[in-house]
Amino acid sequence: MLTPIRWGIIGTGKIAHAFASALRDTPDAVLAAVGSRQQASAAAFCAEFGGTPYASYAALCAAPEVDVVYVATPHSLHAENALQAIAAGKHVLVEKPFTINQREAVQVVAAARARGVFAMEAMWTRFLPASETVRALIAAGEIGTPRQISADFGFPSTLPPEHRLHNRALGGGALLDIGIYPLALASEILGPVESVQGQSRLAANGSDVMSGFILRHTGGGMAACICSTEAWSPIELTIAGPEGYLRLPTPFYKARQVHVVKRDGSQRTIDTPYRGNGYVHQAEEVMRCLRAGALESPRMPLDESVALMGVLDTLRAQVGLRYEADA
Ligand SMILES: NC(=O)c1ccc[n+]([C@@H]2O[C@H](COP(=O)([O-])OP(=O)(O)OC[C@H]3O[C@@H](n4cnc5c(N)ncnc54)[C@H](OP(=O)(O)O)[C@@H]3O)[C@@H](O)[C@H]2O)c1
Repeated sequence: MLTPIRWGIIGTGKIAHAFASALRDTPDAVLAAVGSRQQASAAAFCAEFGGTPYASYAALCAAPEVDVVYVATPHSLHAENALQAIAAGKHVLVEKPFTINQREAVQVVAAARARGVFAMEAMWTRFLPASETVRALIAAGEIGTPRQISADFGFPSTLPPEHRLHNRALGGGALLDIGIYPLALASEILGPVESVQGQSRLAANGSDVMSGFILRHTGGGMAACICSTEAWSPIELTIAGPEGYLRLPTPFYKARQVHVVKRDGSQRTIDTPYRGNGYVHQAEEVMRCLRAGALESPRMPLDESVALMGVLDTLRAQVGLRYEADA
């Protein structure tokens, strides 16, 4: 058995629960502490998952029993909370999107590098077996060089306007919450984004209920993506090359299968089950990096997170989607 890696979590919301549950399924991981704005929330969380409850994020960051802090707050707080943990000398795993904008992303990356701690955007889908299978199939030449990606990600939200998903003060909107998934996947498969063109429909509060964008990548490939919080869509993604295409069935961001369809008419399906609720794989990557003394993951490099925030900034400027932090 390896020396356990001790996790601390900032925030006690939906994804914090999912990640704490994943840590139970992650060998040699320990949930050491949880920080909340309210003692009662931290206590209730720890009663369910274990660890020491702290009544502030600052206290969690200062906790000596924590090696790595997982930031699970709304987008608008990612940079502030990550910087707090980094200043305390903690490694950080920061929920997606990494920050609200590129300026904040640059700040977090600079702070982590200056402090010599590990940092990564929690782009958990990249570590799932389906993603590994896609990379292996592409490397084996199954579809030839990937040239185009198409993706949709829509669900009809029933959440109230003040919820973080829609609340502009908390970074609400479809693009940053779910548009980041096809964007990150396209960047991984087709390479850096050279240019982007987008359209959005904004709600009365100025956050986007629907965004569509077309990416042109440096290698010449292109991706077309649409995301919304008002349509119940298939949530599928297709990667096409001259010899065929790979399809990630619904929901593509945590596909349990990859379909391979070849130009010659042949088809096959590869099962790609993930462990636990899927977040295990990302936790393991962080722990692998920490044990190896690596300050970032080669699978989700910091410069790529900064670049993705830049693409989102450009898109948001095109459609008039602004957040307070942009000022
Ligand atoms: N990887 C994924 O699959 C996935 C899925 C869902 C969400 N996420 C990401 O995770 C982040 C959190 O999403 P979530 O769905 O877990 O949100 P959530 O359920 O609303 O929880 C967010 C938590 O942040 C803390 N918080 C601090 N200031 C807050 C404020 N002003 N308003 C609301 N909460 C505040 C709260 O914890 P305390 O009260 O304990 O302080 C709250 O429980 C988002 O950035 C989102 O993009 C990722």
